[in-house]
Amino acid sequence: MPERPSARQWVLLNPGPANTSRAVREALLTPDLCHREPEFFEMMGECRVRLVRVAGAAPAFAAVLFAGSGTAAVEAAVCSAVPRDRSLLVVVNGVYGDRLMKIAQAHGIPVEAVTYDHTTPVDPADVEAAFRRTPGLSHVALVHHETTTGLLNPVGDVARVAARVGRRVIVDAMSSLFGEPLDVAADGIDFVTASANKCLQGIPGVSFVLGRRSALDALRGQPPRSVYLDLYQHYVTQEADNTPFTPAVQVLHAMREALRELEEEGMAARIARYAENARVLRAGMAALGFEILVPDGARSHILTTFRLLPGLAYDPLHDAMKRRGYIIYAGQGAIRTYAFRVANMGTLTPRDMEGVVAAFAEALAELGIATGVTR
Ligand SMILES: Cc1ncc(COP(=O)(O)O)c(C=O)c1O
Repeated sequence: MPERPSARQWVLLNPGPANTSRAVREALLTPDLCHREPEFFEMMGECRVRLVRVAGAAPAFAAVLFAGSGTAAVEAAVCSAVPRDRSLLVVVNGVYGDRLMKIAQAHGIPVEAVTYDHTTPVDPADVEAAFRRTPGLSHVALVHHETTTGLLNPVGDVARVAARVGRRVIVDAMSSLFGEPLDVAADGIDFVTASANKCLQGIPGVSFVLGRRSALDALRGQPPRSVYLDLYQHYVTQEADNTPFTPAVQVLHAMREALRELEEEGMAARIARYAENARVLRAGMAALGFEILVPDGARSHILTTFRLLPGLAYDPLHDAMKRRGYIIYAGQGAIRTYAFRVANMGTLTPRDMEGVVAAFAEALAELGIATGVTR
C-alpha cells in the first residue's frame, strides 16, 4: 500500500488531543518567558478572560487554570467543592462518571451513585430522588459528554433539579465544552471542567475549571484535601495576577491562540461544523453497514461509537486506517471487542470526514470485509 505523502500528518479521530491549526502549534515557539514577569501574567489573564467570555459565562464565572491533563481540573473541582461534613452524588454511565466516583473516594468524600448502562443518559428524576433521600449530599457531579460511547447527559435538566432542591452541580465537560451547546452559567451549576486539547483545539498540558465566582469565594477557609489541586488557592492567586506553581507557559501561549481562533470562528459555527462532521461521517458509515451504539436522541455531535462488522476485529481495522493516515480509537473495556470510536473534533471539516469514510471503505476492502446495509 503506497504511503500518502502526508501520512505522518495524522488525521486524529481519537477524542483529543485533536488536530490543531499551524498557528496554534507555532505559538509554542514564542520566546522563552519567566512565569513571574508581567508579560506572562498578561497572557495568562487574557486566557482566563477569553475562556469565560467564549463560554458565555462572564462575569459570574472565573477561569482557574491548572498545569495538568483534564483530570487535574476534574479532581481539583471535586476535592475542593464538597465540604468536609457533606457527601457527593455521582452520575455513572461510563468510564468518566466512574472516574468522578474514584476521585471522590480517593479524597475520602462519601459518595452515592446513580448508575446506568453506557448508552443510557441520566434521568434527572433519579437525581432529585437521591437529593431528597439524602440531605447530606451537597453536589451532584456528572459528565456532560461521556467519551466512553458518545453519550450526552442532560446537564441543563439536572441543573434545574439541583437548583430546585438547593444543591449544586459539578460538570465534567472535558470533551464537549465549545463543541456542544452547554449553558455553563445555568442556575445550579457551580463548576465546569475541561482542557485545552479537545474542542478548544489547543495543545495538551493545561486544564481549567470554570467556576461561579460566588462558589469559588465560598471555598475560602475550607481546609484543602490536596496541596496541588486546591482550587481556591489557584483561584485567588491567579486573580491576583500570580501563580502558585510553575504553569505550562508555552501550552498557554498555544491556548491563547486557540481561544482567538475559537472566537474568530464563533462558538455557534464551531458547534455547527462538528455537527456537520458527524452527519457526514454517520451517513457514510451507515452506507458501509456500520450501526451506532448509542440510541438516536442521546448522541453527541462529537464522537460516534460504531459496532464492528461481522468478521472484523478492532486491531486490523485500526492498522488499516493508520496506514492511510487516520487514527481511530478503541472502545473502552469490554466495548473494544464489539465497537470502536471515531471522534470528529479538532480542525477537521466535513470534507475531511468524506476522506475518513473513503478510507474506511478502502480499509474494509483491504481486509476482505463485505460492506453495505444489506448484511
Ligand atoms: C469526559 C472526560 N473526562 C475526563 C477525561 C480525562 O482527561 P485527561 O485524560 O486529559 O486527564 C477525559 C479524557 O478523554 C474525558 O473524555
